[in-house]
Amino acid sequence: MDNAHSRRAARGPLRIRPLHSLFVAEVEDIDLREVHDVETLEMLQDAMASYAVLVFRNQRFDDASQLAFAQRFDGKLHSRTSVSVVAKNKFGNEAITDGSNIGPDGHILPADSRARMIAVSNRLWHTDASFQDPAGRFSMLSARVVPPVNADTEYADMRAAYDALPDDEKSQVNALRVHHTAVHSRQMLGFEFAPDEIAKLPGAVHPLVRSIPRSNRQALYLAAHASGVEGMPLPEGRLLINDLMAHATQRQFVYRHEWRQYDFVIWDNRCTMHRARPFEDKKYKRDVRRTTTLDLPFIVGSAVEATNANDADLSRDIEMVFQIFADRAARLLALLACSAFLTFPAVAKDYRGAVRILVGWPAGGATDILTRSLAERLTTALGQPIIIENKSGAGGLIAAQTLKGAPADGSVVMLALDHTLVILPLTNKNVGFDALRDFTPLAGVSVYQTSSPFRQGRRYKISDPLADG
Ligand code: OGA
Ligand code: MN
Repeated sequence: MDNAHSRRAARGPLRIRPLHSLFVAEVEDIDLREVHDVETLEMLQDAMASYAVLVFRNQRFDDASQLAFAQRFDGKLHSRTSVSVVAKNKFGNEAITDGSNIGPDGHILPADSRARMIAVSNRLWHTDASFQDPAGRFSMLSARVVPPVNADTEYADMRAAYDALPDDEKSQVNALRVHHTAVHSRQMLGFEFAPDEIAKLPGAVHPLVRSIPRSNRQALYLAAHASGVEGMPLPEGRLLINDLMAHATQRQFVYRHEWRQYDFVIWDNRCTMHRARPFEDKKYKRDVRRTTTLDLPFIVGSAVEATNANDADLSRDIEMVFQIFADRAARLLALLACSAFLTFPAVAKDYRGAVRILVGWPAGGATDILTRSLAERLTTALGQPIIIENKSGAGGLIAAQTLKGAPADGSVVMLALDHTLVILPLTNKNVGFDALRDFTPLAGVSVYQTSSPFRQGRRYKISDPLADG
C-alpha cells in the first residue's frame, strides 16, 4: 500500500530565513513533493500565518505533483481563478492556472492575442480570484521556465498596510464590503467583453477588512478587481479603493521576488496582493503554473478525532463527518423551524404544573440569561410557573443526559445549543442520547454564531470535549 506515513516521517523544525522585515520567508532544505506528514504540513501552515508568503527553491514539481501537494497542504482546489468561463486554458485542467506567455502550439503568444491580453492583467495589483466566492486562499506558483532577464513578482503585505492606517480610517473601513469583478480589472486595461461574457462574470462581494484565522491579524482585502463599495456612490467607493491601494502598495510593504527556475512560492491571498512586473515577454519564454485553494469558510464545529494513518483516509473521514454534520444540523433545524418562536405549545397543552427548564451552562452565562428572560415571558404567557435549573458541565451534555432521564410529559424542557445536540455527538461516541430519537423540539429561541477552526485535510484531536463547560 502506498502509505505516505511510512514514506516520510516528521522532519523536525523548519529552517526559515526571513526575506523582508514585515513578511516573506524562505524555507530551506525541504522538498515539498516529499512532505506528507501532518506535523510538517502544520509547521508550514504556521509559517504561512506568520509570513504570508513563503519561498521554496529547487522544487521539481510537475503538474500532477503540484496538484497533489496543493491539496495536501490546503484542501480543495479552486478551478475558477481566471476568466476561464470566457477562455479555457491549454492544460484541459482549470485547477492549473497557466501564467505563461506560451500558446498551445509551444510558441510565444502574439502581442495582440486575447490570451496575452488576459495574462498581462496580472501586472495590476491583485489577489487571486477575489472576483469569486469562494475566493482563492493560498496560491502556489511553480516556475518551470524563467527568462534570462528579470521577470519578477511583487507582493504587498496587507496586514501591515492595515496596521499602519490611522485609527479613524480603520474604523471607517472595518465594516465596508467591496464588490470585486474581473470585468473591472480587464476593462481598466481596455479589454472588451461581449455582453454574454460579462453575464458569466458577475463577481463577488467580500469584506474590505478580513480577520485571518490562524494569525488573528486584520488585513485589507483589495485588488484591481475591486470595483465598488457597497452602500457608497460608485465614484466615492472607487476613490476610496484607489486611496487604499496606493496606501497598501507603498514600498515599505512590498517584497520583490526574483524568480529562479524551480522556485515555488506560496502566498496567502487573504492578506497579500501581488503583481507581475513587465519583461520582454515577446522575446523570452516564461512558464509559471499556479494552483490555488478555495477559501472555504471554516466549518462550525468542534474538533474531530481522526485516527487513520494516511492523508487520503483522513480526508475521506473528514468529508464523511461533514456530511453527517450537515445532515444532522439540517434535520434539527428543519424540526425547529416547524415550531413557532417562543410558544412552547407542547408545554402549554400537555402539562399544567410547574415546568423545569434545564440549562446546560452556569448561571450568569449567555444561555442562562437568555433562558431567564424567556422564562419570565413564558410564566406570564402560559400562567404556569417556570423553574430554571442549571445543569452545567461537559458542553451541555449533563443537561441533555438529565433531560433524557426526565418524564416525557412536558414537565421538563431544555434550552439546548447545536453544540450539544449536533457537534458533541459527532466527536464523542458516548453522549448517552440521540437528539433526533430522544428529544422533541419545541421552538427555536435564538440564533447565534460560533466557530472553531476546522479545516479539511488537517488532523484534529479532541483536546477534551468533556472539560468544555
Ligand atoms: C499569478 C500571478 C504573477 C507572475 O500567478 O496569480 O499573478 O509574476 N502571477 O506571474
Ligand atoms: Mn495572481
